[in-house]
Amino acid sequence: MYPTHSLPDAFTRLATRRSVKAMDLQEPGPDPDQLKALLAAAIRVPDHGKLGPWRLLTFSGAARGQFGQALADRFKQDNPTAPAALLAKEAERFNRAPLVIAVISRITTPHKIPEWEQILSAGAVCQNLLLAANLQGFAAQWLTEWYAYDEGINQTLGLTEGERVAGYIYVGSSADKPDERVRPELAAVCNAWSA
Ligand SMILES: Cc1cc2nc3c(=O)[nH]c(=O)nc-3n(C[C@H](O)[C@H](O)[C@H](O)COP(=O)(O)O)c2cc1C
Repeated sequence: MYPTHSLPDAFTRLATRRSVKAMDLQEPGPDPDQLKALLAAAIRVPDHGKLGPWRLLTFSGAARGQFGQALADRFKQDNPTAPAALLAKEAERFNRAPLVIAVISRITTPHKIPEWEQILSAGAVCQNLLLAANLQGFAAQWLTEWYAYDEGINQTLGLTEGERVAGYIYVGSSADKPDERVRPELAAVCNAWSA
């Protein structure tokens, strides 16, 4: 299992974290206690105005296949001639990982706290989920794919006015350490401001 060594300190974990592709995630996922701890850590984010501008939906066990069927049905509506193999792939999407967490951005408008800041707070929940899962020894990936932007799927999720999907966080275990990914040079994206 990745990591194959004892957990190094949190900073090293943060500095070396990588996503693992949803299709490479496997059992085990978090047990009920780990899940509770993961979710509690995830919502501990900066939140200007204490609005709680987000909510979470978890998918595990049979719910993953049931939601997958909704994805396949919706996909077929838009692509009536889609071959069975493609529909089967849609139906299996959420079964790629033991756990999927939908992070829903929930904005209040008009409000003195800018919409932008409320949305950023939801992004922080997504990133916290990646980090917290990683610190628990799990691997994870933040995906949106087509179904984060689909009105029909939003209805299936029960989203209301002002709500949209910030991300689907897939969580599980990984057999292999992922390869490093090309990163921007720090000097290219960070400069000391001077007058
Ligand atoms: C908002 C958001 C949405 C993303 N959606 C997708 C996606 O739909 N498909 C995909 O392959 N990667 C997507 N990614 C990229 C992966 O989550 C991840 O950034 C990439 O695999 C490398 O991750 P790492 O830098 O954490 O290792 C998305 C990233 C963000 C921030």
